[in-house]
Amino acid sequence: MKTILLTGGAGYIGSHTALALIAAGFEPVVLDNFANSHPVVLDRLARIAGRPLVLEQGDVLDTDWLQDVLRRHRPAGVVHFAGDKAVGESVAQPLKYFHNNISGAVSLLRAMEAAHAEDPTTAPTLVFSSSATVYGDPASVPITEDFPRSHTNPYGHTKLVIEDMLYALNAARPAWRMGVLRYFNPVGAHPSGLIGEDPAGIPNNLMPFVAQVAVGQREHLNVFGDDYPTPDGTGVRDYIHVQDLAAGHVAAIRALLDRGESFTVNLGTGRGHSVLEVVRAFEKASGRPVPYRIAPRRPGDVAQCWADPGLAQRLLGWQAKHTLEEMCTDAWRWQSGNPAGYRS
Ligand code: NAD
Ligand code: UD1
Repeated sequence: MKTILLTGGAGYIGSHTALALIAAGFEPVVLDNFANSHPVVLDRLARIAGRPLVLEQGDVLDTDWLQDVLRRHRPAGVVHFAGDKAVGESVAQPLKYFHNNISGAVSLLRAMEAAHAEDPTTAPTLVFSSSATVYGDPASVPITEDFPRSHTNPYGHTKLVIEDMLYALNAARPAWRMGVLRYFNPVGAHPSGLIGEDPAGIPNNLMPFVAQVAVGQREHLNVFGDDYPTPDGTGVRDYIHVQDLAAGHVAAIRALLDRGESFTVNLGTGRGHSVLEVVRAFEKASGRPVPYRIAPRRPGDVAQCWADPGLAQRLLGWQAKHTLEEMCTDAWRWQSGNPAGYRS
């Protein structure tokens, strides 16, 4: 059974990917420092998988320790989820983001390089969590991978720098196999309702905020702008079920291991939904009202953003399957069963 190391594997996307890898016959090793996740995730994963998962608790900034982890587990591939992801916090604390995200990626790549020098029999294989944020304010939709990249905040800047680092390293080391995955808007939860998104404090993103309004934890949603050039005036995004995203990682690992060619692909559905469509879909899925007020636009927001997922389909044979209704139903099952997240 091939081992796959997941940095940030206890987080929202990492935990769902760990289960998808097990279902596909891989052995995930979860590496996390629990900076933005909870150790109880491992108990939940064990309940769903029917057996405990291997955990390595520590920090990706610790290169020597990472090297030791790689030596002990000899993973066939690494998925690098670990990092900080809150846009607003990155504006207030840019150094935190440049350090954890960029230095964290350098630390991992150095450890992988050292492990490869010790055991040159397999090619280093890495999947990286990038984001649609690297497209900045796109000139048109749908977005293809060759669109120009830019950044509007330090978080997005770190994703762009890490992508460039990977491309430069791959140019110098063509034997490395790298899959850069640009996620659109991940939402939803595992159908068991046992794992899901557990944001600390007030959620920045739409779906967890809507879920907390529906469960009665927050009074109303602020809809950030209703005067965008979109069908109903509210922002349009490509929401993708986290289970589809997890399947995308399995497809990416398989493609890298089987074919050995690096790639950069969008992981999205190719469909956009407005804020008000999300509100209505969530009300239907939960049977609860989601009161909202129109508020000013959020600085830095774009009117519409959705993927052309054609390249991922051609290269990886992967396609998103879940509808917005399913995303809301699964998010609601998680939220209503765990009103205070993993601290419930
Ligand atoms: P998350 O915060 O739930 O998961 C990240 C995990 O990394 C957490 O468990 C955290 O404890 C861990 N971590 C952070 N710094 C670490 C360090 N130095 N050492 C070890 N562990 C560390 O986030 P997520 O939503 O699962 O996102 C995973 C990745 O995908 C991130 O890189 C994020 O930027 C990227 N991404 C997320 C989204 C999204 O909307 N969720 C969209 C695009 C890209
Ligand atoms: C945001 C980040 C992006 C990051 C992504 C991760 C910003 C500017 N962008 O993208 O860098 O990669 O999350 O998923 O923060 N909305 C409301 N009320 C709310 C929250 C959101 O109306 O309380 C609206 C937004 O204006 C937007 C849509 O809902 O139109 C989606 O917002 P969000 O979930 O934050 O995602 P993005 O803005 O696409």
